[in-house]
Amino acid sequence: EKGTYPHYMLKEIDEQPLVIRRLIQKYQDENGELTIDNEIVQAMNEADRIYIIACGTSYHAGLVGKQFIEKWANIPVEVHIASEFSYNMPLLSEKPLFIYISQSGETADSRAVLVRTKELGYKALTITNVPGSTLSREADYTLLLHAGPEIAVASTKAYTAQLAVLAILAVVTAKAKGLDVTIDLVKELGIVANAMETLCDAKGEMEAIVREYLATTRNCFFIGRAVDFYVCLEGALKLKEISYIQAEGFAGGELKHGTIALIENGTPVIALATQEHVNLSIRGNVKEVVARGANPCIISMKGLETEEDRYVIPAVHPMLTPLVSVVPLQLIAYYAALHRGCDVDKPRNLAKSVTVE
Ligand code: M6R
Repeated sequence: EKGTYPHYMLKEIDEQPLVIRRLIQKYQDENGELTIDNEIVQAMNEADRIYIIACGTSYHAGLVGKQFIEKWANIPVEVHIASEFSYNMPLLSEKPLFIYISQSGETADSRAVLVRTKELGYKALTITNVPGSTLSREADYTLLLHAGPEIAVASTKAYTAQLAVLAILAVVTAKAKGLDVTIDLVKELGIVANAMETLCDAKGEMEAIVREYLATTRNCFFIGRAVDFYVCLEGALKLKEISYIQAEGFAGGELKHGTIALIENGTPVIALATQEHVNLSIRGNVKEVVARGANPCIISMKGLETEEDRYVIPAVHPMLTPLVSVVPLQLIAYYAALHRGCDVDKPRNLAKSVTVE
């Protein structure tokens, strides 16, 4: 039930800190250590390459998950859009493990790949919010998102839960391998949950950003580098699916290779700047678009901020910024849709789970 909330989407955005705290508990053992079914950890460590298969928002979570698994657990990862993988299967490694990420566990495009990889004899792990869903039943292993029912068509809390579960999976796998992972993930996810709360309390700020940048615009660009780029893809998907504003996420460095031609006077460009190693370069990209008339909205992170920034998110561990930087983008999409009189929870032409290929 949505209770006093006007829309499920807003309720689900607000539930994110709680979901992260719940996940920490669910994946903790009696000693407070993060833990994952031994069979799953073993399957991870036996694989010479991991293939993540997903669609939409879950695909965007997979892109961030690749960073966690490669950087912490030191296993190569490929992330594929399920529908493309079906008819364009890459050369597989000798010992692949397939991870299917799906909030609903019912997405037909992902299921088609799962059926195929099972036929080929490969092991599969499903990360889903729905126990007993098709993708969960048909895979060898399941990890649950524990996010509670997600009703709004636009996925919010499932995305951040997917990121948290992927981070836990990566760190537990790394530790089982004896790798020296220095992150205290329980503590850092706690900091993430607090930061999410701060952002959920900043709704007025996000509404103001929408009024200032998106009131009448036909399009909007999101730019970022490194992991911020993946969050930009998600921010753009959110905005387009519920507000019908044409939105695209771009890698900062790619702008000059074509996209910059689209910048006109007043074009809103939302830039994420949460990564220290690319902070200067993304700010350089903002200057480039401003020089062509863009209306820039920089969202940065505490410690990296400058005076020109429109909003500064609280500092969190640099690997975990997507869990937090996505929240303002979810809220921006929400208010843009609301102000345009769109049906926030049930956007046109879309269904909550896509059960056709
Ligand atoms: O249930 P799934 O995670 O498999 O769904 C995948 C996509 O259909 C889904 O994420 C879709 O992109 C959302 N509407 C995005 O908000």
